[in-house]
Amino acid sequence: MSVLVTGIAELTTNDDELGQLTDAALVLDSGLVAWVGPAAGAPVADVRVDVGGRAVLPGWVDSHTHLVFAGDRTAEFGARMAGEPYRAGGIAVTVAATRAATDTELATNLRRHMTEAASQGTTYLETKTGYGLTVADEVRAAKLAAEHADEVTFLGAHLVPADTSADDYVALVCGPMLDAVAPHVRWADVFCETGAFDADQSRAVLTAAAGHGLGLRVHGNQLGPGPGVALAVELGAASVDHCTYLTPSDVDALAGSDTVATLLPACDLSTRQPLPDARTLLAAGATVALATNCNPGSSYTSSMAFCVATAVLQMRMSVTEAVRAATWGGARALRREGGDGAVGVLRPGSRADVHVLDAPSATHLAYRPGVPLTYAVWRGGLRVR
Ligand code: NIG
Repeated sequence: MSVLVTGIAELTTNDDELGQLTDAALVLDSGLVAWVGPAAGAPVADVRVDVGGRAVLPGWVDSHTHLVFAGDRTAEFGARMAGEPYRAGGIAVTVAATRAATDTELATNLRRHMTEAASQGTTYLETKTGYGLTVADEVRAAKLAAEHADEVTFLGAHLVPADTSADDYVALVCGPMLDAVAPHVRWADVFCETGAFDADQSRAVLTAAAGHGLGLRVHGNQLGPGPGVALAVELGAASVDHCTYLTPSDVDALAGSDTVATLLPACDLSTRQPLPDARTLLAAGATVALATNCNPGSSYTSSMAFCVATAVLQMRMSVTEAVRAATWGGARALRREGGDGAVGVLRPGSRADVHVLDAPSATHLAYRPGVPLTYAVWRGGLRVR
């Protein structure tokens, strides 16, 4: 059944030829966008939905979340707001709760957070393992994630468990854990940071993952300057995420590469870190994505709109840059921005992931921060809100 979405006051397509349209319409058919253009020239369809002068954009692409978890870290958050620093070691609290949870509890929690995200316009979502840290628990997390999320990343190298040495744990991750998890995931990631994994350990994990045919991602430069960005670029990672502390050579390396700099401003706010320098990255020509980093420790929000508003109001990105980074940028970070079924873009042949705002323009995302502006959402052509 085809659907004509018309009455669009402002249509953001992220397509270089189509650009941004006013008084526009879209036709959705068989899960894909079939037609885009001026409302006056729209073809007929089985169903007509008039969105009454509202703005339409591609659904958010949240390219960085950690949603296979159990438990709660409200107390840690409270301590942080009272002045304690964020430490990688907090991950161990969620690891203990996640290991203790049943499959049903983990799946219910994952679905609840995915539904929460979809209701706010997120139509494509990556999530990670990383709160299991044993072969069995990481395989369990990967399988659960693969049942529910669009993209799954293996993050066995999230923290060295207390009962093992770093060398033994890296050997486990690079050997039996990767062998067991790789069939269930598309990506592998490593937390390359003081208190987690150093450059040599991170390199070993990423090299082993590439040997299993996995695409690479890196958590880097979150809590201080470090080797994460350089390593990600050298190994051809699809993205390096956080990028809170960058040197000029990190910026140059990103600008000269295909590695996307994924910025996670909600995490920086929640951990009392500075916000990333998006302007310098954009000026240098780096590709920037915005994502939530939804997880119970460092960034417990599923709101891409909050990230966009923060990027505009506090990181001096323009609305156009921030919306593109939260849609096309996320898709690029997941290498899903091209071809048939592309996400983060609205053009004939792209996936019919459509986000209608209860506002006449995308500017309202920053102009009215904190106001829930999602009016309607289609995901793969199905109305989910
Ligand atoms: O991206 N940096 C590593 N992992 C998460 C933190 C997870 C946690 O604290 O539970 C992050 O911020």
